Amino acid sequence: MLESQKLKNMQNMKCYAYIIAGVVFQTIIILVFALTVMRIKTPSVRLTSVTVQNLKYNTTGSPTFSMNLIAEIAVKNKNFGHFRFDDSTTNVTYGDVIVGDGDIIKGRANARKTKRFNVTIDISSNGVTDSAKLSNELKSGNLTLTGLASLRGKVTLMKVMKKRKTAKMNCTMTVQLETTAVHNLDCE
Ligand SMILES: *[C@@H]1O[C@H](CO)[C@@H](O)[C@H](O)[C@H]1NC(C)=O
Ligand SMILES: *[C@@H]1O[C@H](CO)[C@@H](O)[C@H](O)[C@H]1NC(C)=O
Ligand SMILES: *[C@@H]1O[C@H](CO)[C@@H](O)[C@H](O)[C@H]1NC(C)=O
Ligand SMILES: *[C@@H]1O[C@H](CO)[C@@H](O)[C@H](O)[C@H]1NC(C)=O
Ligand SMILES: *[C@@H]1O[C@H](CO)[C@@H](O)[C@H](O)[C@H]1NC(C)=O
Repeated sequence: MLESQKLKNMQNMKCYAYIIAGVVFQTIIILVFALTVMRIKTPSVRLTSVTVQNLKYNTTGSPTFSMNLIAEIAVKNKNFGHFRFDDSTTNVTYGDVIVGDGDIIKGRANARKTKRFNVTIDISSNGVTDSAKLSNELKSGNLTLTGLASLRGKVTLMKVMKKRKTAKMNCTMTVQLETTAVHNLDCE
């Protein structure tokens, strides 16, 4: 009688142990899932290459420059769901002055993929007021420009979970005036 009671208790305890182990295991799986697949990260946006066309500049008199840029933009989406972004504008600045802009057409970067597209930007120094600084920079042979963009959109996970994210781009580059080569393309 006493012996069989003991055996039954032991069997019960084993049963509880299995249940607890099962619950712990499931919790770990859910945690890992929540921390990896379900965690929504902000996609990154950068300039991957810039080509200069029709470059004109003048260092005598009031300094000026103009050119067309073909900028390749890459939207890298590390999420396990796609990132859909709206139409927006990319600005190119010289110092604090916007010297050109280009249209970013709405699009979509698929799950764990990088979406690449080209934007054409017409650049002109018309708005630049600090001619002394510009004159010196043009005479040095290298012109530093900055490319800015802000892609507002939504990351969708498993068709139902949606989260708004804004991916920002801030890249600097140096245009070598004599060769029109772009050096030191560097994004934050
Ligand atoms: C540069 O500017 C000077 C003075 O404004 C002008 O005489 C000259 O024709 C310009 N050169 C070019 C290549 O545009
Ligand atoms: C962007 O333009 C450059 C230069 O014309 C070209 O080499 C590149 O393949 C283009 N990229 C895309 C994504 O179209
Ligand atoms: C411009 O920048 C490039 C790359 O940093 C450098 O090789 C070059 O000597 C600089 N100066 C001129 C005048 O091109
Ligand atoms: C680009 O310039 C326009 C006009 O000044 C401004 O409304 C927009 O916010 C700028 N975009 C970025 C990404 O800086
Ligand atoms: C872009 O990055 C530079 C530093 O790399 C910073 O000084 C500047 O304020 C940034 N511009 C914007 C619009 O965030």
